[in-house]
Amino acid sequence: MKFNVAVLGAGVGTQHADIIASQPDSFRLSHLCDLDLDRAAKAASASPDCILTTDLDAVLDSPDVDIVDICLPPHLHFDVAIRALRSGKHVIAEKPYVGSLAETRLIAEAVKATDKQVFPVFQYRYGPGYRQLRALMDSGLAGTPYAIALETHWQRGTAYYAAPWRGTWAGEMGGTVLSHAIHIHNLAEHIAGPAMEVNALLDTTVMGNETEDTAAIGWRASSGALVSSSITVGAAGNASRLRACFSGLTAESSDQPYRIAEGKWTFTATDPERQSEVDAVVQATPDGPIRFAGYFADIAAKLNGRPDEFLPDLNEATQSIALVTAIYASDRFGKRIKLPLPQDHPMYGGWKP
Ligand SMILES: NC(=O)c1ccc[n+]([C@@H]2O[C@H](COP(=O)([O-])OP(=O)(O)OC[C@H]3O[C@@H](n4cnc5c(N)ncnc54)[C@H](O)[C@@H]3O)[C@@H](O)[C@H]2O)c1
Repeated sequence: MKFNVAVLGAGVGTQHADIIASQPDSFRLSHLCDLDLDRAAKAASASPDCILTTDLDAVLDSPDVDIVDICLPPHLHFDVAIRALRSGKHVIAEKPYVGSLAETRLIAEAVKATDKQVFPVFQYRYGPGYRQLRALMDSGLAGTPYAIALETHWQRGTAYYAAPWRGTWAGEMGGTVLSHAIHIHNLAEHIAGPAMEVNALLDTTVMGNETEDTAAIGWRASSGALVSSSITVGAAGNASRLRACFSGLTAESSDQPYRIAEGKWTFTATDPERQSEVDAVVQATPDGPIRFAGYFADIAAKLNGRPDEFLPDLNEATQSIALVTAIYASDRFGKRIKLPLPQDHPMYGGWKP
């Protein structure tokens, strides 16, 4: 079956629209909605019959739309997702998919009531490096994860923060924890299981915005692995990196920001005599579509009842929001935070100060 997709927002929505156009057996870009019609037209340039509009309500009401793809600023995600579900659409939701644990519960209830699906965007896993690590984990060669170190050392300046919603609690709903490191944090949780207890220090030293731009975070994953994450937008250049020490091997990702799973990863056996077994698994791991192409291919598989590769589900999205909440809570209250958070936790309804 082929699905009509309406993309809302023409920033990263441009990349979504290009991928939709490149998978014509599965998707058709029916609408591109943005307050800036010129931007919408550029974003939809690969789909000449796409309707360009500024009217979000008309898109949500249109019977021709099967999937609403939300690429709007974060403060709009929850309301638009709920309205889209109630209009009988599936939803693709850019990160952060909602702004609180309470909202994750309301989305789950709406999914149940409408029998529609919500697909949270986590595209870092779609690339050869991650596929090789997953194959090594599935083969048993990786073994127990002990420690994972994450770096999100990016450079962002005043031009980036000129968009009025960025760097604010009302618009972005968070800073670099919510916007930049959320993908690599999701990848670490995908590898080692959800965070169970969290310690965090956040700061605003680089930009002086309302929301954090630098962080040092540590957490214990459900597998027992200890994860540390260093984040700043004040680096020279842009690098993201994941280094995971398992009992059987140490994996190190490429340092390509946004594309961490794509560059060359290295896998070093703890016991040098087993390096050839590790290398054999890496060499035998098949390629697949990368980044958003892999993610959208997985959505098409899921909606058509075929097995997906590793499509992120709502549980993962909720874990991601739980980790974000715990990070803000740890910094704000100066405490180690245990997960899951109870519904009467002061930040269950959101982390905005
Ligand atoms: N997955 C990723 O790698 C990735 C990368 C970048 C951004 N994002 C996420 O995507 C979202 C958008 O970020 P961006 O960088 O594209 O922002 P952006 O500001 O470049 O684009 C957002 C667009 O939404 C439009 N818009 C705002 N309100 C609207 C409304 N009511 N109706 C119609 N259009 C409206 C704006 O005109 C703007 O063109 C954010 O949540 C961000 O975190 C994800």
